[in-house]
Amino acid sequence: MNETIFSIKDASKAFKDPRHGTSVAALEHLSLDIRRGEFVSVIGPSGSGKTTLLYLLAGFLTPDSGEVLYNGTPVSGPAPERTVIFQEYGLFPWKTALGNVEFPLKARGIPAQARLSAAREFISMVHLSGFEDKYPHQLSGGMKQRVGIARALACQPEAVLMDEPFAALDNITRELLQEEILRLWSGLGKTFVLVTHHLEEAIFMSRRIIVMSARPGRVKESVVIDLPEPRTAETKTHPRFVELKSRLMRSLREEVEKTIAAGREPGLVNDMGTIKVSR
Ligand SMILES: Nc1ncnc2c1ncn2[C@@H]1O[C@H](COP(=O)(O)OP(=O)(O)O)[C@@H](O)[C@H]1O
Ligand SMILES: [Mg+2]
Repeated sequence: MNETIFSIKDASKAFKDPRHGTSVAALEHLSLDIRRGEFVSVIGPSGSGKTTLLYLLAGFLTPDSGEVLYNGTPVSGPAPERTVIFQEYGLFPWKTALGNVEFPLKARGIPAQARLSAAREFISMVHLSGFEDKYPHQLSGGMKQRVGIARALACQPEAVLMDEPFAALDNITRELLQEEILRLWSGLGKTFVLVTHHLEEAIFMSRRIIVMSARPGRVKESVVIDLPEPRTAETKTHPRFVELKSRLMRSLREEVEKTIAAGREPGLVNDMGTIKVSR
């Protein structure tokens, strides 16, 4: 369980801003190790490079300098074993729920009959049996994200990378899906990395939280979330939860304030631990 699955070594990443002919340093000298089977969340102010960090792990981006290793080998592009769940679901609108979940199985060359039964199984794992033949536009946001999760699992991933996967959902649906994801994580024993704006969500779900500094993003601190297991509805009222929340809130606030002081991204951290950004 202690073996490293992802290792980022001194990675920097800048983006060109074509409007101003300048370059924005998104990540600078960032180093981070993630162990196999961990559930890690990444929190930080808006623009601190959280998505950039996740995309380096996914292989959508490569660092300008430094290294991103997956099982000791440099990441050179996306791969199904490092699957990503997006906020916008990313479903094919012309395919049914089942068709969407079948897609990665088809891409892996699994024969039709086996594919169908595997897809049905993944659909049932996210409690969507009976909705196999619905198209995305016939499903609620929460159901669409369940299809997104089922499709990600159909990739047989070693690591599931999530970028604000619940941000578009109402609170109840969000909480249900948090619990669902935790159930899948503990059942599957895979590595989960979650990028979220939502501090309570990060604490509830994670075994470790990475706090990003204001831009350019680095790891400000890595905090072990030593809450009793399993995590349940009571977890959020546990004294240790409250303690961790105020400690992390302070850390996050410092970085948000630096971002504001630098004249970028005006924002504040509200009582829910959500960073509000008004543009
Ligand atoms: N494709 C891109 N082109 C130009 N700038 C980008 C691009 N992606 C990210 N950035 C910039 O890099 C910084 C970090 O972005 P991002 O990783 O999306 O932060 P976060 O997810 O923490 O909000 C931001 O200033 C953002 O504007
Ligand atoms: Mg982002």
